[in-house]
Amino acid sequence: MADFGGAPAPANESWAQRRTRIARDILRRSVAHAAAGGGTDLAPAPMVNLANVYTDPARFAAEKREIFGKLPLLACLSSDIPKPGDALVFEAAGPSILLVRNSQGIVNAFLNMCTHRGAKLVREPCNRKLFTCPFHAWGFDADGLLAALPGERGFKGLNKEGRKLIAVPVGEWAGMVFVKAHAGDERIDVEAWLGEFAPELAQLELHQTEPVRASVMQTRANWKFALDTYGEGYHFATLHASSIGQTHFTDMTVYERFGRCHRVNFPDKGTARLVGKPEEEWPETEYGAVHFLFPNTILFIGSITPGRVFTQIFRHFPGDAVGDMTTLFAVYAPHGVRDEAYQTEVEMAHDGTRQVVMTEDYRVAAEGWANMAHAPEGWSVVYGANEIALHNQHRAIAEACGLPLPEACA
Ligand code: FES
Ligand SMILES: [Fe+2]
Repeated sequence: MADFGGAPAPANESWAQRRTRIARDILRRSVAHAAAGGGTDLAPAPMVNLANVYTDPARFAAEKREIFGKLPLLACLSSDIPKPGDALVFEAAGPSILLVRNSQGIVNAFLNMCTHRGAKLVREPCNRKLFTCPFHAWGFDADGLLAALPGERGFKGLNKEGRKLIAVPVGEWAGMVFVKAHAGDERIDVEAWLGEFAPELAQLELHQTEPVRASVMQTRANWKFALDTYGEGYHFATLHASSIGQTHFTDMTVYERFGRCHRVNFPDKGTARLVGKPEEEWPETEYGAVHFLFPNTILFIGSITPGRVFTQIFRHFPGDAVGDMTTLFAVYAPHGVRDEAYQTEVEMAHDGTRQVVMTEDYRVAAEGWANMAHAPEGWSVVYGANEIALHNQHRAIAEACGLPLPEACA
């Protein structure tokens, strides 16, 4: 497992100590909710939202253009391309983008397009010194330079330097790689982009992760409808009666907002055993939470067996039409795979979650989205004060695409 350095921890505590401190704060708030017989964090009021934010093709086009076409997006974790020459293709945001780590360990991003006649250069994750085009075999190195030109006599006088791969804005920080899905030379300042959420992600030490399993999930719903299903625990007892509804409180949320991002915790039922117990007798607390990384990413830290923690990342992308979406789902061992049993459990965390999401959450999303397409003009949905995370993410997304929600919704 490679180490990418990560971000420097604050002077007075390590990232691990910070995680423990924050996990304890979250637990305190969870125990208080359990002591209240089912308390939860609440927004000041419910929020209504026009159903057409999910169905309007004009808003959808604005989201694709202003958000997915212009803003930094999580393209992968550093551990997905740990070694020089490692490359992967990221194309869920629109253009096919090639990410490659060069011999100095720096991640470059390019349009995945040969500069001869535009062919797609790389199709699969790979490790190469030279990326050879499948059409006429032009070869490019990890810095995008044209390094091999078969039949050179046909290209006398060609400015090879001018035939470099076309750069895409990219930045790597704290184990995460971000790109903007368009051509450009910029290095993205990831820490500045994350703002007040930066330390909350840095403390996860994602540079230590090891990828275990990944897949693609798709449904016939607007991408925001699918994203909403990760933000509230109000549906656990009904929709997930045989899975998370068994183990976790329904409609109990510990919520913290960091600008356009937030962290949400859904306490497990074991929390009830701590009510009335002095804090010194509480067991060691393991950090776990759902993180919403604006605009489209859910990063979940959790475990089935205590101590065998996994990191799940769900990145949501609009499809070709307003009612099509894709989720790129990947599961990692946060500090590397220690042994076979652990590997198996992290794989189960992928397969089991995928099963629940596809058959329960995304089924509801597809059915609900189909209904909305036929709702009367001006019909609205309502997010309860208990569905607090949805308020923040809908306002943030609407503002970023230049079509803020009407007064009545805000
Ligand atoms: S298009 Fe790539 S070598 Fe011709
Ligand atoms: Fe769910």
